[in-house]
Amino acid sequence: MIKVINRVEGSYALGVLCSDYPDRFIAVRKASPMIVGLGENENFIASDVTAILKHTRNIYYLEDNEIVVLQKDSVKVYNTDKEEVKKDVFTVDWDVSAAEKGGYEHFMMKEIEEQPKALQNTISPRIKDGRIVLDDISLTARDIKNINKIYIVACGSAYHVGVVGKYLIEKMCRIPVEVQVASEFRYCDPIVGKNDLVIVISQSGETADTLAALREAKDHGARILSIVNVVGSAIANASDDVIYTWAGPEIAVATTKAYSTQLAVMYLISTYMAEKLGMLTSGEYARLVNDIEALPDKVAEILKSKEDVQYLASKFYNCHSIFFIGRNLDYAVSLEGSLKLKEISYIHSAAYAAGELKHGTISLIEDGTLVIALATGRELFDKTVSNVKEVKARGAVVMGVTTTEHTNMEDVADYVVKIPTIHEMLLPSLTVIPLQLFGYYMASLKGCDIDKPRNLAKSVTVE
Ligand code: AGP
Repeated sequence: MIKVINRVEGSYALGVLCSDYPDRFIAVRKASPMIVGLGENENFIASDVTAILKHTRNIYYLEDNEIVVLQKDSVKVYNTDKEEVKKDVFTVDWDVSAAEKGGYEHFMMKEIEEQPKALQNTISPRIKDGRIVLDDISLTARDIKNINKIYIVACGSAYHVGVVGKYLIEKMCRIPVEVQVASEFRYCDPIVGKNDLVIVISQSGETADTLAALREAKDHGARILSIVNVVGSAIANASDDVIYTWAGPEIAVATTKAYSTQLAVMYLISTYMAEKLGMLTSGEYARLVNDIEALPDKVAEILKSKEDVQYLASKFYNCHSIFFIGRNLDYAVSLEGSLKLKEISYIHSAAYAAGELKHGTISLIEDGTLVIALATGRELFDKTVSNVKEVKARGAVVMGVTTTEHTNMEDVADYVVKIPTIHEMLLPSLTVIPLQLFGYYMASLKGCDIDKPRNLAKSVTVE
């Protein structure tokens, strides 16, 4: 096996049986998920904990190219120098039901509904006596002051969290932030070095492009802080610091609770760094902390009226193309709303910065085109309203998503979804909820396979 893996290129997760040794098999992984399950008189390998949770809670997380020799009553791990490696046993603490539907028709709706709890589990351990406590990371105030630039690197919905993160960190910390999809970052010979912080975001912690981008940044000497949902995953293991999202296992391919908890961690990091940099008054800091703690209840409040979104979906599920528009943080959320809709309902959709419509896209608007306009922030509300009027004048049907604070969206939009108010910086967590529900109900009405959409995988461990 050592001879083989010294010759094999690429990523792999192998379990090898040999007829000469029928009582054992050998396993090895490289940049592909694999864990070892330690049972009673039985042992397992699997790509994910959920596959073996019914049999054992005790597992080994494997590093790349660690070779495992499994027999029913023994598990030995070796490095490529044939030295036995001592592994710590990790005991999984979430219950089997977390990986079951629990009465919901789809995992996705279960996970949408779990968001208040997932947010609570992610936020609470990190706020003590009104202060953000990030024991998970070793980033000191001095390190933060010395940061030259921040890159945020991820894929898909995790990338969309990065777009929110850019607005937050630049607004609050005045540190330049560049957000890039991992598949581009890894091949663009990035201008990143030892005084830069690279924030890597990944639910699975196994996304090939994101892992490769992390390694590229590390090779350039950058410090890596990752936001990951799977403990012991490759991205978590390869990072200098990891902040785990305690969303629990996310089964549906379309992420919801992991996305939301990644946003929460982004708020915690941004506020933590801004405070260390002396960019917040004590009152501003206290208000942010207070509103971050209020997020679970605010999300729960929105979920109570999910049938309103179901009604809207019933009017639009035959649409062939739907546009999402927004400005600043609302633009960042429109990216996620558009992806949610596309990946599970297969309806074409696009997200545009609302101010960009007049530079070409508005030519796509025709009679009856559905435009979902996100206008939740105060400063840019009127600007977005004028964009709503622009598309209305060209025949669009507009669904506005705004806060209870704004009372004149009804004057311009055909339909309005209201969310509660909260600190402006935290609005993405509330705005995204109706969009997750909209995508879910549209897919449901179209009879799509919501949890396992065509052509998609939960963890993209290939390029
Ligand atoms: C989101 O609903 C998709 N499932 C996909 O975009 C996902 O966010 C992306 O593949 C990144 O996955 P990761 O967070 O596990 O790295």
